[in-house]
Amino acid sequence: MSKSSELFARAQKVIPGGVNSPVRAFKAVGRTPIFMDHGKGARLYSTDGEEFLEYCGSWGPLIFGHCRPEIFNAVNQAAQKGMSFGTCCEAEVKLAELMTSMIPNMDQVRLTNSGTEATMTALRLIRGTTGRKKVIKFEGCYHGHADAFLVAAGSGLLTNGVSSSEGVPEEVVQDVYVLPYNDLKAVQDLCDDIGPELAGIFVEPAAGNMGLIPPVAGYLQGLRDVCDKHGSLLVFDEVITGFRFCPGTFGMYAGVSPDITCLGKIIGGGMPIGALGGKREVMENLAPLGNVYQAGTLSGNPVAVAAGTAMLTLLRDENPYPQIKELGDIYTKGITDILTEKGLNYNFQRLEGLFTLFFGEGPQHKLEDVNRCDTEIFAKWFRMMCDEGIYFSPSQYEVGFISAAHTKEDIVYTLEKAEKVLASL
Ligand SMILES: Cc1ncc(COP(=O)(O)O)c(C=O)c1O
Repeated sequence: MSKSSELFARAQKVIPGGVNSPVRAFKAVGRTPIFMDHGKGARLYSTDGEEFLEYCGSWGPLIFGHCRPEIFNAVNQAAQKGMSFGTCCEAEVKLAELMTSMIPNMDQVRLTNSGTEATMTALRLIRGTTGRKKVIKFEGCYHGHADAFLVAAGSGLLTNGVSSSEGVPEEVVQDVYVLPYNDLKAVQDLCDDIGPELAGIFVEPAAGNMGLIPPVAGYLQGLRDVCDKHGSLLVFDEVITGFRFCPGTFGMYAGVSPDITCLGKIIGGGMPIGALGGKREVMENLAPLGNVYQAGTLSGNPVAVAAGTAMLTLLRDENPYPQIKELGDIYTKGITDILTEKGLNYNFQRLEGLFTLFFGEGPQHKLEDVNRCDTEIFAKWFRMMCDEGIYFSPSQYEVGFISAAHTKEDIVYTLEKAEKVLASL
């Protein structure tokens, strides 16, 4: 019995389903989870001693790969001064100053412990600020696991074949309107009715929880215009996209300015963190200045913010984005060539270092398009690539991440393995 199987058997006795986050259970890919022991650069090493060239990057935070020395050293130094104070500390001010200096439409930022806390707070904040209840979200977008967002949500809910969660009272979601992604007309039509009662719109500006779906031209600006027309607030959930495309937000990359941006993943350099930020007049509605409540024992944790500060400083000073784009270009060309050569009707979508190989005909613009993909073939692809030592996110509904720790040789090696596996699926 492998060490991973042994550990999974032990885990299942004491942890529901053996995991602390559902997709890790590998249910959708028909095998038991691989327990990892350590990571280095673009590689993960399992408890059984297997080596994986990986494209999951802890689901996004690790844009420099595992154990980048500057980030590790920052954590080490911070931890030696104390793991948590529960008071104000200079390190959290530094990270907030760095973030607000890198994101022009972010006057102020509140730090949380996870992306879920950031979006949950943003929802309360837009409702508190506007005095309205109704919100719009989109099918297949995932905004963390706060009750109000668990209707037609993406990520693990799609992976596990459920669109919503038990335990969420109807009253909590009755003011949440769910529309197809990338369909501006649907938003405009709905807002002709509910516009005056609309607190705001939540959107992943490039969707990453139903595979990668970029916004169609004019979509984000259209959402901005709808919000302006009705006095509603626009929230970009950039937990995946923040600092992924440029040393700032996807909003900056796309030239559209939301009222609130939610962040997570990259801004913690691998430590637990989340953040929401935006215009001063909105952010100052949060307690203690305003009456919209939010708090956290570990929010602004000195170790997490030290990691985040080291990460953002590296991103600003090293600018790894052109390198990541170049690797993405090589990968895209390689995969699309293989698909064409083999006459395979699958579709590869990519934005810079973010990608999904959809096992179905493309393009994918909304969840309905993704739902036509063959998840059984995806599962086979995942398992066979694992056997070849390449690890992707274990679901058709998730994205792949190219990091600055990947090299051209890594991409070429991955393409060789992909060609072999695609030929035998
Ligand atoms: C777009 C988006 N929003 C929010 C979240 C929730 O973040 P967390 O898992 O840190 O709670 C995620 C997590 O993957 C996400 O992708």
